[in-house]
Amino acid sequence: MAHMILSYLQAQALIAAHQAGETQLVVSPDLSLTRIEVDITQNGVGFPGGQVLTWEDLETISDSERVCFLVGEGGLRKVQIFSETTNRLYSLMPTQGAPTMLVSGIPMHRIKGIDPHQDTLRKIKTIAPIQGHVLDTATGLGYTAIQAARTAERVVTIELDPAALEIARLNPWSRGLFENPIIIQIIGDCYEEIGKFDSEEFKRIIHDPPAFSLAGDLYSGEFYRELFRVLGRGGRLFHYVGDLESKSGRSVARGAIRRLGEAGFSRVVRRPEAFGLVAYK
Ligand SMILES: C[S@@+](CC[C@H](N)C(=O)[O-])C[C@H]1O[C@@H](n2cnc3c(N)ncnc32)[C@H](O)[C@@H]1O
Repeated sequence: MAHMILSYLQAQALIAAHQAGETQLVVSPDLSLTRIEVDITQNGVGFPGGQVLTWEDLETISDSERVCFLVGEGGLRKVQIFSETTNRLYSLMPTQGAPTMLVSGIPMHRIKGIDPHQDTLRKIKTIAPIQGHVLDTATGLGYTAIQAARTAERVVTIELDPAALEIARLNPWSRGLFENPIIIQIIGDCYEEIGKFDSEEFKRIIHDPPAFSLAGDLYSGEFYRELFRVLGRGGRLFHYVGDLESKSGRSVARGAIRRLGEAGFSRVVRRPEAFGLVAYK
């Protein structure tokens, strides 16, 4: 195993087992995807790959509920990167299921009452069946791209910030982004990159941008006209806008629905369960 990713959930379970006098425990080395048996000793925890974590290391992990830790040959380090491109701090934040990424403290997926994986499934379901060529405008941890790639012919996904992809590379739940050959990654600004695609090139578009307050141009009429241009006839666009029941979400959705209509979409439907809109061409 190249590296392990641990969170406070595994660390707390290990500390509790030690306190209970256990000498072995089954834990996940990759944020709940698989399980391994580890040895619990007075000095710390021994993993099958030979790595050893001291109780001090495990206390450090256990005290940090907003970041995961990489356990590698160089020892323990936070899965956290400061981006020189955007001057933002990116961290991999654990949940009970798939982790999310914090961008300067703001989670990139929904985590209240739902986990990032379920959040992704709800987004994808709004434009099912996912077929043909798919455009995913904002890669992030790659969850929407990975899910779309299960049934699509090809998925093109665009990410502005290489630091976000560095975090994704360390995330066990993002592996498909780097391993599935039908997913094509572009590093760039989707506002500019979209002009390079052919008209009607995509059958489905997933537009999952940062919040309106952080990326207003990705909610503009000009960008929506480009989304309309690259979408094929009969195609569908899912557009995340935020909680439609909240005051700000309602207001962002109202403006987005008007501009999507002006851009040419024949019908725009609110999908509150997915915190977004679906636009039809
Ligand atoms: C909400 S997250 C996307 C989550 C993603 N769909 C997933 O499933 O993990 C938004 C992402 O868009 C990226 N981003 C912001 N502005 C962008 C732009 N202009 N072009 C492409 N990506 C952008 C951010 O760095 C961030 O990683």
